[in-house]
Amino acid sequence: MIDSDVSTQGLPQLSSWARGIEEPALQRALAATTSGMISLAPGIPDSELFPLSDMAAAAAKVLATHPQALQYAVPCPPLKELICAYMAERGVKCTPDCILLTQGAQQALTLLAQLLLDPGRIVLEEELSYSGFQHAINAYKPEVVPVRTSVRNGVDLDALEQILKKTEGAAFMYVMADAHNPLGISLSLESRQRLAYLARKFQTPLIEDDPYGELFYTEERLQPVKALDDNWVYYIGSFSKVLCPSLRVGWIVAEPQHIRKLSIIKEGLDLNINTYSQWIVYEYLETGKLHSHIKRLRTTYCARRDAMDASLRSSALSCGRWVVPSSGIFFWIDFPSDINTTQLLSECLKSNKVAFIPSEACSRGKRTSGIRLNFSRCVPSEAATGIARIGDALQQMLNRSGLAIGAY
Ligand SMILES: Cc1ncc(COP(=O)(O)O)c(C=O)c1O
Repeated sequence: MIDSDVSTQGLPQLSSWARGIEEPALQRALAATTSGMISLAPGIPDSELFPLSDMAAAAAKVLATHPQALQYAVPCPPLKELICAYMAERGVKCTPDCILLTQGAQQALTLLAQLLLDPGRIVLEEELSYSGFQHAINAYKPEVVPVRTSVRNGVDLDALEQILKKTEGAAFMYVMADAHNPLGISLSLESRQRLAYLARKFQTPLIEDDPYGELFYTEERLQPVKALDDNWVYYIGSFSKVLCPSLRVGWIVAEPQHIRKLSIIKEGLDLNINTYSQWIVYEYLETGKLHSHIKRLRTTYCARRDAMDASLRSSALSCGRWVVPSSGIFFWIDFPSDINTTQLLSECLKSNKVAFIPSEACSRGKRTSGIRLNFSRCVPSEAATGIARIGDALQQMLNRSGLAIGAY
């Protein structure tokens, strides 16, 4: 019998985790872009640099020669072979059964959280870190213990060791040894060796997230931490920043028994396929053009980095402090603690048509006086205009508050 009095109002009750989800005010503000807005906020590649005709040829070849790539199928075996060859060049010995192909580094983080994290356990994260990492772990309501980060040298390993001594049984620690987001720095060899040593000594797995590792502006680059320890480091790579993010192709390197478990977990997310994209990436790599494409990205982004450095020096933002990034796609600028960069952003969005990421978003709300600026996406003249606009807003904010900021 259907009771006509039953109310049609109301919504189903959500899980306690989902009840806690709120769209961050910052994300809402950044999404509301207006015409003429210059955004130095997102961490994305320049779409003008995508290798369009080569991607089109690779996609056409897949459809002509591997139409089964559109079917439910096993993840692209020859792509795993190529990734193993690439990892070997970087000093990591692995076989295809050590590789899980993922939908980008973000899904790799989600999968590793499912593999390693139980509700309420401790996770160690640098105090300045990638904000998307939170989405991968928040469902487990972990206790996130922040580890001090130096804007010059990266994760503070003395602080990390002290924390590891005090906190028994952390589920894992999360680091970016190369091209840190948001700091744009890469760790020294000593730091990598000590990280591998600490992971082993305290039997705490390390998740090494490396989506920007190919974007370095130095003569040479060091091996990932994964090359220094097989068992305790889970390595994450991605084609998002060097090819195209929307293909959603990344990978995890781990021990085969854990890869098998991860592949079963992945079935729960997407039936463990994303094969069409994987085959496109494979066919593109087979042309041998990735190397010269990455070289072009490095040259272009390095010139944009230098141009942004010059723009910063001649702007009102020169009252802040920064290290010219040796890798990645971001500048990190620290201002005196009186400057609240979330307020600055709100001013910039309202009146100055320019956006950036304030430190609040990279520090779980704990830091309030830094900003992250992207230099890969805009041509230098546009970035310079953006910086001048932020500088105007900063100057107005200082004038209103009566603060006088000299060299910091
Ligand atoms: C540090 C870091 N990890 C992971 C990701 C996600 O990358 P992907 O597009 O490969 O999922 C990003 C994206 O910006 C990132 O900055």
